[in-house]
Amino acid sequence: MPEGTNRQWVLASRPEGLAGEQNFRWTEAPVPPLKEGEVLVRNLWLSFDPTQLGWTKTDTYVPKVPLGEPMRALGVGQVVESRHPGFTAGEMVTGMLGWQDYLLTDGDRSARVQKLPPQVPASLALGLFGITGMSAYFGVTEIGRVQPGETFVVSSAAGAVGSIAGQIAKIRGAHVVGIAGGPTKCGWLRREAGFDAAIDYRSEKVGPRLSALCPRGIDVYFDNVGGEILDEVLARINLHARIVLCGGISGYATREFPPVRNYIALTVKRARMEGFLVVDYTARYPEASRALAGWLAEGRVTQKEDVATGLENAPKTLARLFTGENFGKQLLKIADPPLPVPE
Ligand SMILES: NC(=O)c1ccc[n+]([C@@H]2O[C@H](COP(=O)([O-])OP(=O)(O)OC[C@H]3O[C@@H](n4cnc5c(N)ncnc54)[C@H](OP(=O)(O)O)[C@@H]3O)[C@@H](O)[C@H]2O)c1
Repeated sequence: MPEGTNRQWVLASRPEGLAGEQNFRWTEAPVPPLKEGEVLVRNLWLSFDPTQLGWTKTDTYVPKVPLGEPMRALGVGQVVESRHPGFTAGEMVTGMLGWQDYLLTDGDRSARVQKLPPQVPASLALGLFGITGMSAYFGVTEIGRVQPGETFVVSSAAGAVGSIAGQIAKIRGAHVVGIAGGPTKCGWLRREAGFDAAIDYRSEKVGPRLSALCPRGIDVYFDNVGGEILDEVLARINLHARIVLCGGISGYATREFPPVRNYIALTVKRARMEGFLVVDYTARYPEASRALAGWLAEGRVTQKEDVATGLENAPKTLARLFTGENFGKQLLKIADPPLPVPE
């Protein structure tokens, strides 16, 4: 890459169904010189999150990505030049960096990047201590409120959020059952992540397996998927069960979410089904980070990572989330830090 060139993937068209390379356009342009108050960030790592597909299609909790703009993405980067009093070259930062080599932010927009605490690896900043870990923590503790001895079920269990959610529920003393695609993921859940049991929804019938593995019924369901699995869980909930609506990836491609057939179970069981967005908990991220850092240090939480490389592979990397190719937190490494990282 020529020095000072910014390569970008811009959104070229709104995908019908899944997003592919045809929906993005590769552009290259020189990095403009910095004006007073601006910060130049070299992007190093990008995070891949299922919600990005929604961002390409329609307004959700944030406006859709405008056509012609770089694809929006969280990432970790390094400040390589600063004419802003709050930032110094060499500092590691995180924020909405986008599918590009460089982010140039002005004084106001630089609020979008925050400094990373020293010694926090990018993979953990975007995973356990990022949106992933925060969603798992607040979904389990605030919405699910799982108690010792309860039965906790999570879907997309070998994914970034699901794997952490199940481990937190285990730490809180629950019987934990994960639902994931394929024997490799299910084996990992049992052997490495400490789940009590796992269901391979691709080869097993989810309903009967839930009945066998949750003989006392289901108290908390952490739903990442929606659709048929949600209905199978609803058919087996206990009195005062909590259904945590974290996401519904089975409907993200079409934006047509299957109807919930067994909702009357909520009435019969006086149960609660509640959605949440992690961004509403921003003020409490330090509390969650402290708890997660403690469990990580004690070896009670493990983060599975799936690392792709090269900015040119960004569209293909996003697609992995929707085929189940990713195993754990999906990241894309773009570059090494060009400057020494401060201790
Ligand atoms: N509410 C919030 O604030 C918030 C914040 C972050 C994430 N989320 C949601 O949390 C969920 C998980 O996100 P993540 O980042 O941890 O992603 P992830 O689980 O690491 O990756 C997505 C996984 O979804 C599964 N999947 C894909 N299509 C599926 C389908 N049609 N049916 C069933 N499973 C399917 C695949 O796993 P298998 O191989 O097991 O099928 C895939 O690996 C998503 O729904 C996301 O939108 C919500």
